Amino acid sequence: MSEFIITGGSRLEGDITVSGGKNAVLPIMAASVMARTPCVLHNAPDLVDVRVMSEILRGLGAVVERVNSGRSLYIDPSDLSNTVVDEALMRQVRSSIFLIGPLVARMGKATVSYPGGCDIGQRPIDQHLKGLAALGVAFEEAHGNIVAQAPKLQGADIHLDIPSVGATENIMMCASLAPGVTVIRNAAKEPEIVDLQGFLNSMGARIRGAGTDVIRVEGVESLQGCEHTVMPDRIEVGTLMVAAAITAGDIYIPNAVAEHVQAVTSKLREVGTSVTVLHRGIRVIGSHRRRPTDVKTLPYPGFPTDMQPQMMALLSIAEGTSVISETVFESRFKQAEELGRMGAQIRTEGRTAIIKGVPRLSGARVVSTDLRSGASLVLAGLAAEGETIVSGIHHVDRGYERLERKLAALGAKIIRQE
Ligand code: UD1
Repeated sequence: MSEFIITGGSRLEGDITVSGGKNAVLPIMAASVMARTPCVLHNAPDLVDVRVMSEILRGLGAVVERVNSGRSLYIDPSDLSNTVVDEALMRQVRSSIFLIGPLVARMGKATVSYPGGCDIGQRPIDQHLKGLAALGVAFEEAHGNIVAQAPKLQGADIHLDIPSVGATENIMMCASLAPGVTVIRNAAKEPEIVDLQGFLNSMGARIRGAGTDVIRVEGVESLQGCEHTVMPDRIEVGTLMVAAAITAGDIYIPNAVAEHVQAVTSKLREVGTSVTVLHRGIRVIGSHRRRPTDVKTLPYPGFPTDMQPQMMALLSIAEGTSVISETVFESRFKQAEELGRMGAQIRTEGRTAIIKGVPRLSGARVVSTDLRSGASLVLAGLAAEGETIVSGIHHVDRGYERLERKLAALGAKIIRQE
């Protein structure tokens, strides 16, 4: 099992470019199966989740290869033959649920397994199923799998109960090939949805409204392959911004899109970090004195739940008490106990965490239990006195492309031990 060994205390300095967005590339890869000709995705990050999704697409009959010295992904779905998503792979990457919409739209059928084995219609994919059902997809459960079939699709007016990112994307993809007009109301507004709209429209779809809470899709007869450049990863940007803040560093991210990280920027400024939006990119200068602040996670453009654990690491060394309210996911404070091993004083009660800032963290052996909690522990390790060993870093690799190399390039003392 790999682990990161971090010697804390180095100030991070320099320029660093972020990779393409994990949450952008995964739905785009799923959408690519609707094309009749090959697609090329530039700036496609080489993440474990992307490799698993590539394997899933190969299992469906697509040709998937890394091209352009590994920086781009070539996907040829023209000979798609299979509609059953491999169960073992499906359990490794939640985003495989995105394949239902595109597969039924292209092939009339899709069989996927249900992560966690809950009943159809219950959380957490009820909004996906409700939207796709409105487009004419029929679902049945067989041997723990969901079998989706749609001999004929039709556009529909769909009102989501909650602005689910994945459900909005799944419905948008399927609706692209559904005759007639689909309107998705109370849609999620995340930038990744705008990126997906750009990709689908380049394939020949007619979609507008992504980035607002009403998305309108005019169905077309077929979609063709295209070239697309995946947007920069805004959560990686946010994570590096916190890395500068927590080490009182000075970093510049030339390909950051400032608009995508406004909520994080605003909170970091409240903490006392200087964030300057330059003509291109963002410069972040951390201070040794950090003020406490309260954070509430919300759908975009609110503070992202995917940045909450990293923010918790920073607030654990603020001069005072901060409160974090997690409104998007139920149990997302797994990092709190591990941060506690490093000397942080955090009390969690349901969806609320109360963080009493301490002057310093101390290195410890900690375990990453999920992607963003892993990032939070790495950040804490950068600031802590002494050595921190973070195990379970396969979670970090799911969403960050060689995070340790990027941090080391900025001056962090971090190595990967296999
Ligand atoms: C996406 C992101 C994930 C991020 C999340 C929220 C990808 C690949 N992943 O996940 O990193 O943390 O958005 O910003 O883009 N829900 C339901 N029913 C549904 C769907 C969702 O109740 O049918 C609930 C979920 O349990 C959760 C909330 O809605 O409490 C938000 O989920 P959603 O926006 O769907 O997140 P994902 O698309 O899964």
